[in-house]
Amino acid sequence: MKVLGISPLDKDATASLVEDGKVLFAAAEERYSRRKQHAGFPHDAVAAALAATGTAAAEIDLVAYPFFDWRREVELIERGLAEEARLLDGHKLDVRPALRAAKARVPDREGEIFGLSEPNARMKKGPLKELFYAAAGASPWLSDRFARSASRAWARAAVEAHRMWNRELESSLAELGLDGKLRRYEHHLSHAANSYLTSGYDRALIVTLDGYGSGLSGSVGIGEGGDIRRLHDFHFPFSLGTYYESVTSSLGYNPTRHGGKIVGLAAYGDPRVLGEVLLSRFDRSHPGDLRMFQNLNLYFSRHLASHFPAVDVAAAYQHALEVVVAEIVAHWAGKTKTDAVVLSGGVVANVKMNQRIHEVAGIERVYVYPNMGDGGCGTGVALLESLDGRGGAPIHDAFYGPEFSEREIAEELESAGLEFARIPDLAAEVARRIHAGQVVARFDGRMEYGPRALGNRSILYHAREPHVNQWLNQRLGRTEFMPFAPVTLYEARGRCYENVAGAELAAQFMTITFDCTEWMRESCPAAVHVDGTARPQLIRREVSPGYYDIVSEYEKLSGIPCLINTSFNMHEEPIVCTPRDAIRAFVRGHLDAMAIGPFLVEGSKPPAGDPRS
Ligand SMILES: [Fe+2]
Repeated sequence: MKVLGISPLDKDATASLVEDGKVLFAAAEERYSRRKQHAGFPHDAVAAALAATGTAAAEIDLVAYPFFDWRREVELIERGLAEEARLLDGHKLDVRPALRAAKARVPDREGEIFGLSEPNARMKKGPLKELFYAAAGASPWLSDRFARSASRAWARAAVEAHRMWNRELESSLAELGLDGKLRRYEHHLSHAANSYLTSGYDRALIVTLDGYGSGLSGSVGIGEGGDIRRLHDFHFPFSLGTYYESVTSSLGYNPTRHGGKIVGLAAYGDPRVLGEVLLSRFDRSHPGDLRMFQNLNLYFSRHLASHFPAVDVAAAYQHALEVVVAEIVAHWAGKTKTDAVVLSGGVVANVKMNQRIHEVAGIERVYVYPNMGDGGCGTGVALLESLDGRGGAPIHDAFYGPEFSEREIAEELESAGLEFARIPDLAAEVARRIHAGQVVARFDGRMEYGPRALGNRSILYHAREPHVNQWLNQRLGRTEFMPFAPVTLYEARGRCYENVAGAELAAQFMTITFDCTEWMRESCPAAVHVDGTARPQLIRREVSPGYYDIVSEYEKLSGIPCLINTSFNMHEEPIVCTPRDAIRAFVRGHLDAMAIGPFLVEGSKPPAGDPRS
């Protein structure tokens, strides 16, 4: 049975072609349109999926879409809002005394944080705005009013969006002659399906957490023998996705794309300053449930951001998230007597939170779906349908995207006027250059599916230089508070990281952090964060031999089984898809060399004023 999974059109639209539980092709539309987190029907990705697999549209048996019809979504949104109103009716939230006490706990800081004007930087907005934020975000009566009206405004916007995407989905499928084959699914079932069915676990607790989907912000279920059974729902607007988006936006970043920057920033802050204040916004009197006070009131996070150092605000949001989610997981793991948990949904892009989940007492195994956000939802329901109750298989790799022939690559290089050579032992040559201090891009094989570059569209560098985070990010036009992530030979995981056991599969896709060993901290300072953690990609040779061999050859030269792996793209651009994209990013980034297919391309010298020149 061939199923075309279409992920939600509102952001990161993705097409997946799945047959009998096997993903034949999957790619996000952003890689083709070159618009980050592309919204709208994934026309090019669908066309690429059909072309790459030699499938005619008429051969598709079913189109799976992970949202209900907009009218049903509206009913579910209304239900959630009524529930929030009942919670707010019975609770008066006054955070002002706690905020006054928190002011006294702000530490003095010195030293530089790359990307911040100074270590205690606040988001100052001027006296008038700040007065308004204080009233609307923190005074008991007004903040309650603003929270309720924010929820209603969110609902109105969501209704309009669902109607619009509904129309676009149906008209686009009609153009393909597939409109009669559309089937809709509850959103969190799609997250549950992609994580459970690719985990290889027979029995697992399934936790999904995101911003919004089919009236919910998350769910808890149990997977057993290939079946998925729902145990509990978390109702929107009690949503950890919107919670994290609000702090991301209040600290000046793009709320839907830059959550990872807050995770990185949080490690510089002190969670004791505001952690308890944040926790007081959760109703934790119902174990295993998620209830939040005034969650959509953005003025609260604006108020914090204007009065407290950004690092402490970030640390508090991260801390409260970790505490609340760890409690939820512990509750349901205990109740179901489960030691394995699988995770999906945009919130589980939070690699530090996933580490905390792995550390929950009684949790032995953790797996995170590599495309945990909504881009993975179409794949989830397509897997579910095509397996039809049969159990899934553990994921082998996420190289589901397009690939290009040697001839196509050579033609692009020639038309760009670049000199290139076929190198007999390319892995050894790349390793030698990295060991000598060069930045080398790698483009090879099928493109990765999901948000992370996993070696086939990656930039590689050695991890010995602590300040590489600043100059390389500057050259690539990025500000990142997380250090670059390391790719590590699978066999060397114990030498580099603590407590990896049970999270090996998650770590093959860079979805979880670990505490680093002393050896790792000393040998690879560029890949270790200020809190002593790293977010590795563990690489096995059978998954990606060409990539593995580079790290392995590098280890022969240096004794270090790790390299930095960062995504091959320029500032705010999606990861490169075609050889042409790769050439453009390579030239603009002034990288030293590029291994593309079987060829090596020499780079140009960095321009004057480059941070490393
Ligand atoms: Fe979602």
